[in-house]
Amino acid sequence: MLKIQNLSKSFHNAYVGESILFSNLNLNINKGDFVSIIGSNGTGKSTLLNIISGTIEETSGSISIEGKDITKMPEYKRTKIVSRVFQNPALGTCPSMTVRENLSLALNKGNLINLKYCLRYKTDYLEKLLEDISQDLKQLLDVEVKYLSGGQRQALSLIMASICRPKVLLLDEHTAALDPKKSSEVMKLTEKIVREKNMITLMVTHNLRDAIQYGNRLIMLHKGEVILDLDEEQKKKITVEDILKKFEYAV
Ligand SMILES: Nc1ncnc2c1ncn2[C@@H]1O[C@H](COP(=O)(O)OP(=O)(O)OP(=O)(O)O)[C@@H](O)[C@H]1O
Ligand SMILES: [Mg+2]
Repeated sequence: MLKIQNLSKSFHNAYVGESILFSNLNLNINKGDFVSIIGSNGTGKSTLLNIISGTIEETSGSISIEGKDITKMPEYKRTKIVSRVFQNPALGTCPSMTVRENLSLALNKGNLINLKYCLRYKTDYLEKLLEDISQDLKQLLDVEVKYLSGGQRQALSLIMASICRPKVLLLDEHTAALDPKKSSEVMKLTEKIVREKNMITLMVTHNLRDAIQYGNRLIMLHKGEVILDLDEEQKKKITVEDILKKFEYAV
């Protein structure tokens, strides 16, 4: 379980002074849950993900994963248990390295071995892995990532982020920069990977249809508070129009 307890976060700004974003936020996410997170701009979705990944420090409160308190664990140590995919396809991969080299590095995240060695000993594994999940990327194994399309890069980022089976996968609008067809392909890949690896997944999205269609829980944040929390059954019954009304009434 991912447990967020009494989380508070305030920002200090020289012009507007202190602004409180989260004030005693509590959230429990069960093992294997795939949660869609929606909410207006500036409502705290990315900040929540940044706090879970350790990119931003909370003001107070605690975060634990499977009973282990990670609140004070530095970001670089969390990367083995908490992995991320960003909105920008340029982030999360190394453009001047090939798909194979990027995947090899991701496979050996946190291990002190050189690239030559890890490239040699995981060759068959990577080909088999891509055979099962992305024939497209399999054809591109020896192509530098800078030549990949945005959709191919996001698919690669997703595979890299999940390759070592982190306990928590954070997706921050990871399909927002893609055209509808590519976005749908990356969403299908996301569902397949999340299901196979059984990772807690938090997916921030402004695509309400995806938020309803994918995952088994839907949370709406508004000004740092959870104003809607639907389980799988409730989520099946809600429509995009219902959610749009929530956006309208959220003040
Ligand atoms: N480092 C920072 N310093 C000051 N304020 C910040 C900082 N990071 C975030 N904020 C503020 O916190 C609020 C929440 O921002 P956040 O990026 O989490 O929103 P969001 O829900 O992800 O929005 P969007 O849908 O636009 O991505 C915003 O008002 C933002 O200005
Ligand atoms: Mg954001």
